[in-house]
Amino acid sequence: MKINSVVLNNIRSYTDEKIKFGSGTTLISGDIGCGKSSVLYAIDFALFGVRPGSKSDDLPGAALLRHGANTGHVILDFSIDGKSVKIKRTLVRKNTTVSQGAGSVTINGVIKDLTATEIKSDILVLLGYPENLLKKNKSLLFRYTVYTPQEQMKEIIFEKVEDRLDTLRNVFGMDKYKRISVNASLFSLELRRTKSRFEGVFLDLEQKQEELKVAVLEKELVEKNVEISKKDFEKINLSYLEKKEGLLTLKNKIDELLAIKTKRDVLKKSAEMSEKRSVEIKNELKILRDKLLKTDEKTLRLRLGILEKEIVLLDSKKEELKKIQLDVRELEGKLRECDTRKKTANELIEKISSLDSCPTCGQGVDVTYKQSICDVEGKKITNFDKILTIHKKNILEKEEIVKKLTLEIDAIRVKEKEKITILHELKGLDDVLKNMSLKEDEHQKMIDETQKTLQEIAGFVVLLKEFDVVRALYVKGEQEIEKLRVGLIEAKSVSSKFEQAMVDVKKRIVSIEKEVAIKLKAKKDCLIVSDYENWISYTFIPLLDTIEKHMMAVIQQEFNALFSTWFSVLVEDENLSCTIDDKFSPLVMQNGFEVSYNFLSGGEKTSIALAYRLALNKIINSLSETIRTKDLLILDEPTDGFSTEQLDRVRDVLDELKLKQILIVSHEAKMADFVDNVIRFRKSGHVSGIC
Ligand SMILES: Nc1ncnc2c1ncn2[C@@H]1O[C@H](COP(=O)(O)OP(=O)(O)OP(=O)(O)O)[C@@H](O)[C@H]1O
Ligand SMILES: [Mg+2]
Repeated sequence: MKINSVVLNNIRSYTDEKIKFGSGTTLISGDIGCGKSSVLYAIDFALFGVRPGSKSDDLPGAALLRHGANTGHVILDFSIDGKSVKIKRTLVRKNTTVSQGAGSVTINGVIKDLTATEIKSDILVLLGYPENLLKKNKSLLFRYTVYTPQEQMKEIIFEKVEDRLDTLRNVFGMDKYKRISVNASLFSLELRRTKSRFEGVFLDLEQKQEELKVAVLEKELVEKNVEISKKDFEKINLSYLEKKEGLLTLKNKIDELLAIKTKRDVLKKSAEMSEKRSVEIKNELKILRDKLLKTDEKTLRLRLGILEKEIVLLDSKKEELKKIQLDVRELEGKLRECDTRKKTANELIEKISSLDSCPTCGQGVDVTYKQSICDVEGKKITNFDKILTIHKKNILEKEEIVKKLTLEIDAIRVKEKEKITILHELKGLDDVLKNMSLKEDEHQKMIDETQKTLQEIAGFVVLLKEFDVVRALYVKGEQEIEKLRVGLIEAKSVSSKFEQAMVDVKKRIVSIEKEVAIKLKAKKDCLIVSDYENWISYTFIPLLDTIEKHMMAVIQQEFNALFSTWFSVLVEDENLSCTIDDKFSPLVMQNGFEVSYNFLSGGEKTSIALAYRLALNKIINSLSETIRTKDLLILDEPTDGFSTEQLDRVRDVLDELKLKQILIVSHEAKMADFVDNVIRFRKSGHVSGIC
């Protein structure tokens, strides 16, 4: 890395100034308070930003931004790893606080506007600082390799031994061993915990294995019992089935006999019914016979013959009556006609008698003529009277005959009724006879059927003799089968119990086997974990310790060599030597006596600090391959209290360093003799600038 220029805008005593730097050693000189250190602060700020706080290595914004200014910035121009880089960082005052604003990073002319945090990460990559170290203290490497602020030069020497060693472990990258060791211890602790967890898991392994053995034996026993109980069950079941079949045969026989019994009962009933009916038919026949005896068929038939002869006349009588009735009606017609003509004649007489003139011609009617007509009509009336009398007489005679005939017809009709009654009676008689015949047939049939039924019943008796025996056998069989059924249930229950016991014991075995497998695995894992834990605790961690100690010892030796050499160069006194002990503390020997640092002269103290600082720089740079700031060294007042001779020796030391760029802040004018460039500053009106 080579710094080309830095612009300070409103930074401390600067308002706006650009300072250019060349290669080689550059002396930044000027009076006290003229702004020399401010340039180095600006470079620090440009690279790492502000570090709020009040410790000596903090760099708060308020310490940088010029009093009275609200904004300020720094632009740092440098070359690194073949790249041209320009960083701009800004400061903003808000009320009483000063904070960083956004800035930019320009690499090979390509500008990136970035936030303060983004700039920081870009820079760290550019500088090639190891990531793990940067996280802890981003400027620690810079502090010990490039630039240690004026006030901090001696701080590291006065730090507590352990703090210093921790800091040095950090910058030497040795802390990783401690970190690994701590992590390994934590891991080892976790492994011990895991181990004890595993131990807890397989603590009762033997007991479980014993349980498994017992369960397996139990299973074998239960297996035998299952087999025996199954056989028992099958045996009983076979007997049961055989008995059941036998019982079924008996049941069929009983059903058959019961059917016969039922049939016999039905036949018995039928025979009884037939007998009863037979008696009934007998009684009915008796009634019919009695009825038959009471009826005189012959008399009835005689009377029927007489009646039929008389009834034969009925039609002729009826014909005769009809004819006479017609005659009467005819005579009555003639009577009415005659009567009408008589009335007409009388009316004519009356009319003509009262008629004086002709209603047609109006001529007077002659009395004679009138009399002649009356006479003619009178004669007619007389004739009509005669005819009427005759007709009336005839009618009366005919009516007499009608009466007579009507009486005769009525009498015949009575006989006709009597005939019907007789015919009915005869029919009834006939029916009785027919009925009797039927009844007799029926009776005979009844007798035959009853006979047959009785014969059939007699046949059943033989068969039914077996019934009681069969039923007794069936009852006995039922009792036996019930016993077998109970036995079967018991056998089944025993078998099921053993089968369930088998299922249970199998389940238990599976469960114990699982447990045993888990415990065996836990035991195996425990052994592995234990091996790891032992290796980490007793091999790896001590090894790390040894490595670290060894590495630190190597560094210490190198460091000591560099330190004591530079110290002896800076302090040319053969009675005074200074080395570095194993805690990296300076050990001063004067005339063979160990001397406390505090009792040394100011120049000697500064020499120790500078030699320590330069040795540190060299060691760190040699340890890290990635750091790209190895070519640069910035020293702020490194020669405080040095004599003129010592200043000359500083030149030798700086030459020894063989760096491409060294910036030295010093108010020692002598220094100007051996540097490549001198930049002088002055301050006027509290504004710093290059002379
Ligand atoms: N925030 C600030 N604003 C203005 N001036 C400041 C601010 N902080 C410090 N100063 C002053 O800026 C001046 C330059 O300080 P600087 O530390 O750069 O001086 P120097 O040249 O290194 O002095 P020395 O030789 O004593 O170390 C000093 O007068 C200091 O008091
Ligand atoms: Mg200063």
